[in-house]
Amino acid sequence: MSPDDRPITVPKFAAMKAAGRKISMLTAYDHTMAALLDATGIEGILVGDSLGMVVQGRLNTLPVTLDQIIYHAEMVSRGAQRALVVADMPFLSFQVGAYKAIENAGRMLKETGCRAVKLEGGADQADTIAALVTAGIPVMGHLGLRPQSVHQLGSYSVQRDRERLLADAKAIEQAGGFSVVLECIPADVAREITAAVSIPTIGIGAGPECDGQILVVNDLLGLTGGRIPRHTKTYADLRTLIAEAVGRYRDEVRDSTFPGPEQTFN
Ligand code: KIV
Repeated sequence: MSPDDRPITVPKFAAMKAAGRKISMLTAYDHTMAALLDATGIEGILVGDSLGMVVQGRLNTLPVTLDQIIYHAEMVSRGAQRALVVADMPFLSFQVGAYKAIENAGRMLKETGCRAVKLEGGADQADTIAALVTAGIPVMGHLGLRPQSVHQLGSYSVQRDRERLLADAKAIEQAGGFSVVLECIPADVAREITAAVSIPTIGIGAGPECDGQILVVNDLLGLTGGRIPRHTKTYADLRTLIAEAVGRYRDEVRDSTFPGPEQTFN
């Protein structure tokens, strides 16, 4: 096994920041996509609670359950041989207290093979992060736009409270978190946080100067219908490719050219 084939570990994230090497992450929700992403050499795969919208067609992430995250994270972990698989702690799986958080994150690690969890929060969740880390569970924090607080925030808008964001990032670092997602914050604030903490910052809508980036894979591949958030970039147009492929299949079924002799047993 060459050094490049070795599994990406939690300490490797810190080593990449120290070496000034950028970290690429994407979300995945099933085995096929996880295997495809893993083969590209990206460092991390997040089983995000964005699956509530992306997979389940819901309006927000709040209805996603612990059992659903476990179901998807198990498939993703089996598909990813190298990338660090991180699973999202869903709404109310950790906010109710450290004991419950350890129990739930423990299930996530034991039952899925994921190697870290992510939770939304900063100073408000520092005690819980510290308790999880003491239990041997690596934690990625999540600051800025916290989708699980959408009803409190009122909308999915850019978060600009510089002092609070900085204090929250430091609180995650002090509690033992191994990295932090910065979602939808101004680029200069993300730059300042990235310089102020020793743990890697993973940006989404936080400018280019984070230690790494993450996107929702369906957005990157052009699978998402409707309005795409400004911070995302679409690198392929799979909706059009799928429509063309399925249209050709439909037409060939209609005119009896599929199945042809190659697909037919005699
Ligand atoms: O749930 C998710 O996919 C996320 C990423 C967008 C960071 O939290």
